[in-house]
Amino acid sequence: MVKKLRNKILAANWKMNLNRLEAFSLLQKISNMTIRENDKEIVFVPSVFLPMCEEVLTNSCVFYGAQNVYFEEKGAFTGELSITHISDFGARYALVGHSERRNIFGENSELLNKKLKGLLSHNITPVLCIGEPLKERENKTYEAFLYKQLKEAMVGICAEDAKKIIYAYEPIWAIGTGKTARPGDIKTTLEFIRNTLNYMYEGIKEEVYILYGGSVKKDNIDEIINTNHCDGVLVGGAALDFDSWNRIVNYEVK
Ligand code: 13P
Repeated sequence: MVKKLRNKILAANWKMNLNRLEAFSLLQKISNMTIRENDKEIVFVPSVFLPMCEEVLTNSCVFYGAQNVYFEEKGAFTGELSITHISDFGARYALVGHSERRNIFGENSELLNKKLKGLLSHNITPVLCIGEPLKERENKTYEAFLYKQLKEAMVGICAEDAKKIIYAYEPIWAIGTGKTARPGDIKTTLEFIRNTLNYMYEGIKEEVYILYGGSVKKDNIDEIINTNHCDGVLVGGAALDFDSWNRIVNYEVK
């Protein structure tokens, strides 16, 4: 049984949504939000909005990050952003390995591993996303699938660095589908991920944060976030509307 962690992490992934005016308006509302003491709120915006985050969120308690970075410092990588680019605009977090990056943009574990190492060396906290497709869940092979994703992404990463990473379990079949994983499945899968990390890095179990993502809404947040082993949530669609996001951030403790 893992001791209750200090706080929860409420993370929003805006994906490729909102125009400039909408983003500004939502960020302004977010900057004035109240949030439970010791909890952490992070918004992952399209990178073009990072300067806006710097302007609006700098004096608030909300952190922000990028949805993607490239690992190289600089050079002929047309269309990419470096870690220095995002950190220069105050981003302190970055998503790595979101299933949309893996599946639509073909990002493989070798690339994700380089991104993790690059971010860690720049003191930017990576949020490493893992999650199985429906077939693996139905065939009950999801544990082996998740273990492989973790093992490959973490090659050459030491325990001290592994502790700095935030892990997010996002079953692909639950993303944007309205199908949330059942609390029992969330608990056992998050526990499996925690134990796997502990197997890879002895003693790390109580220090890592593991989030759940996939159709988290204001109607199911209380049940999900109070599930054992759930240290927070990574929210897509329901984070785009202020009232809905506000309710999620101000979940009820059960
Ligand atoms: P939804 O909350 O829209 O299902 O998206 C989850 C997600 O992919 C967050 O990264």
